[in-house]
Amino acid sequence: MSEDSRHIPARLAAATSVGFRSLHFDNLVVEYPMVQAALAGYSDWPMRVIASRLGAPFTLSEAMLPRFVLQVGRGKRAGRLLRPTGERALCGAQLMAGDDDELPAAAQRLAHAGFHAVDVNLACPVKKVLRRRRGGHLMGQPEAAVRAVARVRDGLPPDVPVTVKMRRGLDDSLESTEHFFAILDGVLRAGAAAVTVHGRTVRQRYEGRSSWPFLREVKHHAGSAVVLGSGDLFTARDCLAMIHQTGVDGVAVARGAIGNPWIFSQVRALALGEPCPEPSVSDQREVMLEHYRLAEETYGPQRTGPMMRKFGIWYARLHPRSEEVRLTFIRVGSQEDWHRAVAQWYR
Ligand SMILES: Cc1cc2nc3c(=O)[nH]c(=O)nc-3n(C[C@H](O)[C@H](O)[C@H](O)COP(=O)(O)O)c2cc1C
Repeated sequence: MSEDSRHIPARLAAATSVGFRSLHFDNLVVEYPMVQAALAGYSDWPMRVIASRLGAPFTLSEAMLPRFVLQVGRGKRAGRLLRPTGERALCGAQLMAGDDDELPAAAQRLAHAGFHAVDVNLACPVKKVLRRRRGGHLMGQPEAAVRAVARVRDGLPPDVPVTVKMRRGLDDSLESTEHFFAILDGVLRAGAAAVTVHGRTVRQRYEGRSSWPFLREVKHHAGSAVVLGSGDLFTARDCLAMIHQTGVDGVAVARGAIGNPWIFSQVRALALGEPCPEPSVSDQREVMLEHYRLAEETYGPQRTGPMMRKFGIWYARLHPRSEEVRLTFIRVGSQEDWHRAVAQWYR
């Protein structure tokens, strides 16, 4: 697929009604067909709150190990990590799949903490995770993958849906593709309410393009089961183009939402045929200050400065003088630095 063919003209976007369909994860209704994807190191409580306030109808935490979910105490740390997005916002927590007996109990704890759904990660390509036979490793182990999802399903009350994150395979081999479809069929039989498919292989990690033609094949195979697509969604147009070209029920916005939480309202506006302006510098300023405030409330004054640096670098991409702004945020280490950088560039 060529770069250009992924983009659809605004007129066509307005004409497609796909943007309006809600998503149903069993009985949980997500009003618009887009979610904020799981993002390790990013999709923490502050990022999810900002995304949901700006129009993300469903947000996901980063992947957590089952043992970790069970062992984290009941104090501050648990409050930080096991904190649903809140403010009536729908949110899911993600569990890293493996061959763990703790999966049902961990899922239960997440539901008890108030998450509306539990997502099972069969996709993570990080070496350490693969070595421990977790995440993406399971894309090569259909039985173990389906067993992990069934265990999570078993641990949850029926009104809490289980969703699954997959990649299109371990690699490009035929065997990998066969495994993919065996896992897809198996997890749907085991009670998964939806699957999100990242159109890259585990081997590919983040290199090369996400295969949208593969997503089309998946949706065709899955019939009425809910499929969300992932990969290369950097603008609102990309999101509508993926739905339009592949037939998936919805999209999981990942890197495209870091430092650009406006993408969710833009998708909605574009689908409705309404104008969807870029956020002004002053809109950006308000959100960046609020994001810092929420992070400080979560992590305390010492940790927040260094932690927010990476977000500042992503936010800088939207600024008309992005390179200079990026260079300023690279040096941010404290609250004063953040406020100074914002005051300098976002007046
Ligand atoms: C920094 C980073 C962290 C990620 N962490 C997770 C994770 O914890 N769980 C998960 O299922 N996917 C994770 N992903 C994958 C994304 O959810 C998404 O599938 C992938 O980035 C492809 O979408 P994109 O090309 O639009 O970014 C991560 C991706 C990135 C870049």
